[in-house]
Amino acid sequence: MIEGKESAAVGRPLRYGMVGGGPGSFIGGVHRSAIAFGGYGTLVAGCFSRNPANSAVTGRELHLDEDRVYADFEEMARKEAGRTDAIDFVVIAAQNDSHYPAAKAFLEQGIHVMCEKPLAHTLEQALELKALAKKKKCLFGVAYAYAGHVMAKEARAIVESGEIGDIVMVMGEYPQEWLMDLLEKTEGQRQAAWRTDPKQAGISNCLGDIGTHVENMVAMMTGLKIRQVCASLDVIGKGRTLDTNAQVMLRFTNGAKGMYWSSQVAAGYDNGLKVRIFGTKGAIEFVQEESNYLKLSLKEQPPRRLSRGNGYLHPAASKNSRFPSGHPEGYNEAFANLYGAFTAAVRDRMDGKKAKESDYDYPKIDEGIDGVKFVAKCVESSRKGTVWIDFD
Ligand SMILES: NC(=O)c1ccc[n+]([C@@H]2O[C@H](COP(=O)([O-])OP(=O)(O)OC[C@H]3O[C@@H](n4cnc5c(N)ncnc54)[C@H](O)[C@@H]3O)[C@@H](O)[C@H]2O)c1
Repeated sequence: MIEGKESAAVGRPLRYGMVGGGPGSFIGGVHRSAIAFGGYGTLVAGCFSRNPANSAVTGRELHLDEDRVYADFEEMARKEAGRTDAIDFVVIAAQNDSHYPAAKAFLEQGIHVMCEKPLAHTLEQALELKALAKKKKCLFGVAYAYAGHVMAKEARAIVESGEIGDIVMVMGEYPQEWLMDLLEKTEGQRQAAWRTDPKQAGISNCLGDIGTHVENMVAMMTGLKIRQVCASLDVIGKGRTLDTNAQVMLRFTNGAKGMYWSSQVAAGYDNGLKVRIFGTKGAIEFVQEESNYLKLSLKEQPPRRLSRGNGYLHPAASKNSRFPSGHPEGYNEAFANLYGAFTAAVRDRMDGKKAKESDYDYPKIDEGIDGVKFVAKCVESSRKGTVWIDFD
């Protein structure tokens, strides 16, 4: 796998644009911070909000040229593509309903895309984006940021090494408490408002928002392919129509079993993503809020706590580490690792290198498609009375 540090340098900083990330937003600023942290690109253009006045506010705060702050993403894609100093890639950090049309607009202009998850509202849209990216020879990353943690990559390397044997069970959970109250009814709570609105969020809230991270983390660490799902999506909170709690049982193609639980109504929990992988010889446990560590428990041996930054980690993981052990890395570094690999691919593509997109270690459009499919199949299962549904 090719990482950021191994990429050849195009003779200038990469230029990028952003859709979303306007005043009061959450994730757009995280993307900007991660790209700046690694020196991976310079923001030169944006459409930061559906409201042009708000977009202009962010453009001024970020010191962009006024003529590169656009009223809508279609104008931005068209005009940027026509410039000699056009953006090299775009980051789509707007809410879910904008992912498909915005990604399509930039792909049509031949611009590489990094898009937030869930990739699209429907599987058809997601597959259309894949076909378009292929036709236009564009790279396409999906911002499953937790996959960028060094110790998540270490988990993957341990599984690949065979140290914990054949995978037989996986348990994933993602409890949060932030939607226990009807936050969406409070003025200014934009993140709660759109996540509980089917027009903007899509067919699922909780499972689409955080359950997809569980699905992606397990897939990334184990390579397991889902054969069937059986799901119960619970709408907890008066007046809501979308799920705020989701339980999923899984059967994988290799015979392994799984259970995923995600919740936004779990008292006392901030962002408790945890994945446990059980093999025939041992188990590993990754806890997002303690992402500098990984628990390795081999059968009939005392558990070990592996610590990021130490020489005993697999090189495929440790080469993503930035600071020595005991100097904590977190969410920003995980996001930056994703961008290190993605911008390496963009640079190498611009340099005319022949490397395949699969050679680079960032979540790609196929992972985004799997996430959309996971949500669709779980919603179908739940609507039919929590029955087993084939994945393919
Ligand atoms: N990868 C992660 O860890 C992670 C974390 C949080 C959110 N997300 C995803 O990021 C996306 C945004 O989430 P958020 O919490 O930042 O939402 P947010 O509401 O805080 O911000 C969304 C921003 O997009 C802007 N916007 C909306 N439609 C637009 C359009 N058509 N053109 C331009 N700008 C537009 C809004 O004005 C706002 O500034 C969601 O898809 C969410 O699932 C991912």
